[in-house]
Amino acid sequence: MTQQYRITLLPGDGIGPEIMAIAVRVLETIGEKFDLKFEFQEALIGGSAIDATGEPLPAATLETCKQSDAVLLAAIGGYKWDSLPRHLRPETGLLGLRSGLQLFANLRPATILPQLIDASTLKREVVEGVDIMVVRELTGGIYFGQPRGVFTTETGEKRGVNTMAYTESEIDRIGRVAFETAQKRSKRLCSVDKANVLEVSQFWRDRMIALSAEYPDVELSHLYVDNAAMQMVRAPKQFDTIVTSNLFGDILSDAAAMLTGSIGMLPSASLGASNPGVYEPVHGSAPDIAGQDKANPLAQVLSAAMMLRYSFNQSEAATYIEQAVLKVLDQGYRTGDIFSEGKTLVGCQAIGDAIVAAL
Ligand code: IPM
Ligand code: MG
Repeated sequence: MTQQYRITLLPGDGIGPEIMAIAVRVLETIGEKFDLKFEFQEALIGGSAIDATGEPLPAATLETCKQSDAVLLAAIGGYKWDSLPRHLRPETGLLGLRSGLQLFANLRPATILPQLIDASTLKREVVEGVDIMVVRELTGGIYFGQPRGVFTTETGEKRGVNTMAYTESEIDRIGRVAFETAQKRSKRLCSVDKANVLEVSQFWRDRMIALSAEYPDVELSHLYVDNAAMQMVRAPKQFDTIVTSNLFGDILSDAAAMLTGSIGMLPSASLGASNPGVYEPVHGSAPDIAGQDKANPLAQVLSAAMMLRYSFNQSEAATYIEQAVLKVLDQGYRTGDIFSEGKTLVGCQAIGDAIVAAL
């Protein structure tokens, strides 16, 4: 019997629409092959939503997302909207989507593909074999803590404030996702915090230690975030699964992405307890190359594969897409961001055509 899935597409801004178009072609092709029927509906988010409706996350978009089985997002933001007040910034739309769907767990895998080792800025022996999963808390911490804002003190001076706060239940639920993720990988979990300075981080560490009693098969370790950043570029192979707070995860996942050669390669999944998951590349909207057919659509395509695996339980179809991406890299096709000597430089469309052909 044909399986049916409703997918909300959020192409967003910059290179978003170009890379989304490739992912849709890939999904349609895989659908025919595996007898899956996708019903796509497109909705507005970010700068393009601001231009069309005056707000970065129109209520209709959140509603459409809630009604679907999964959400595929490309990227948001651009220079044009950078000086708007915070509540009208594209980023606020993305954060509203994450919190509106209660997507507290962000899985960001960073795996180095043998084909791309030479695209990494690090030495071959340092990155060969890297396979890291960053589990980032996504709906709490300093991104959402109160109070926040710029206030005037009693002496009339202005003071900017954000608050890093975590409740026990917020830490425990991301901790459980991380321990379970580590169980399915090589059973090593590193919790990253700043417990030497921050109370919230000491509390985070204490909860991780308490939780570890329930996962005796997982080896738990701890690193301060500054050391973790250094270790990530010094000896990344020591990491398997990393669990960390919203802000630290934002920073470390960019660093982890660069180990793999290009941030243009990394997909991610944002999952909650009940609402549909959101799948998006780790990279941004790259407004500098938008509309020039230079974007790398692979992270978007791999995000679609993650969607098939995590939300639809279609691992075979997901693997099929991942294999097609590897095949295209084996054939030597490269977009500018992953180009190295001796390879064939192609644009977004052409590499998309090659993936569809490989499928
Ligand atoms: C990310 C991005 C976002 C974040 C921005 C665009 C709000 O950097 O997904 O990593 O900080 O979470
Ligand atoms: Mg980021």
